[in-house]
Amino acid sequence: MSNRSRLLPRRSCLSTPGSSDRFLAKAPTAKADFSFLDLEDSVAPNEKVAARARVVNAIRTLEWDERVLCVRVNAWDTPWTYGDVIEVVGNAGERLDEIMMPKVQRASDVVAMDLLLTQVERNCGLATGHIGIEAQIETAEGLINVEEICAASPRLESIVFGPADFAASIGMPVTTIDETIHHAPSNPFTYVFAKILMAGRANGLHVIDGPFLKVRDLEALRYAAQITASYGFDGKWALTPDQALVLNEVYSPSQEMFDKSFDILDAYRVATEKDHTGALMFGDEMIDEASAKIASSFVTRGQRSGMRRSPTEG
Ligand code: GLV
Ligand code: MG
Repeated sequence: MSNRSRLLPRRSCLSTPGSSDRFLAKAPTAKADFSFLDLEDSVAPNEKVAARARVVNAIRTLEWDERVLCVRVNAWDTPWTYGDVIEVVGNAGERLDEIMMPKVQRASDVVAMDLLLTQVERNCGLATGHIGIEAQIETAEGLINVEEICAASPRLESIVFGPADFAASIGMPVTTIDETIHHAPSNPFTYVFAKILMAGRANGLHVIDGPFLKVRDLEALRYAAQITASYGFDGKWALTPDQALVLNEVYSPSQEMFDKSFDILDAYRVATEKDHTGALMFGDEMIDEASAKIASSFVTRGQRSGMRRSPTEG
């Protein structure tokens, strides 16, 4: 059920071209929280139709672990979207958790996908609502409509930024997506990150950053990922298994923050339940209900990623 995937971490979202049996076979061995098998931009137009069966075969026959499993279909302004959904969702079986929609422009794009999925699910024996939706924001129009998009369907699980298509859409003077964007004197991504994050969170969605194209420079990836991690994004796309390892680290709380969050929750519980006070000193910090909320979100995030509280002394 998509309830399964909603609760799983998405620190590293690995992209795999659906036209390559070799890359498909390797995907489950990468240490990624999330894998999406791509039918869109990493697949050549003359391979698009054949890639559907390869993707179905990979979903059905490879040993996937617990990760979220997704297929990115082609956008509504191509001839392929409905065929992608009918063939892939119709044949992949229950292991497929989600469909990713690229270049979402308006809420009705998501509503149309929701309706199509409902029919396909009914015809292939999946429970209604089994397949979740990820919506990519990759155009100026999509960004302007992101609030309505995030509220468009109960199937939505994540909102995802697509920086490469977005840079093209707004006419940014760049030829790749790397860390230099963040050093530019004026960086429009700061507005994009905040806007997407608010729209996603207001609707209870995971919020994911897109690819970093200089794939061999893992330190530059780390720098770029730390920016959206500091906003509170849940994760980022990985184009290689090595990128996924870096992202798993960057989007997890440090052990120190994780342990401190438990300590704050313990201290807050004692203060409110035993001492009947709502605000208290925790070391040299004043904490209250809001601090407990922040701590609780770190605990959830760390637990989702499999972290454990360090043993306390004594
Ligand atoms: C991803 O799809 C991107 O365009 O960055
Ligand atoms: Mg794109």
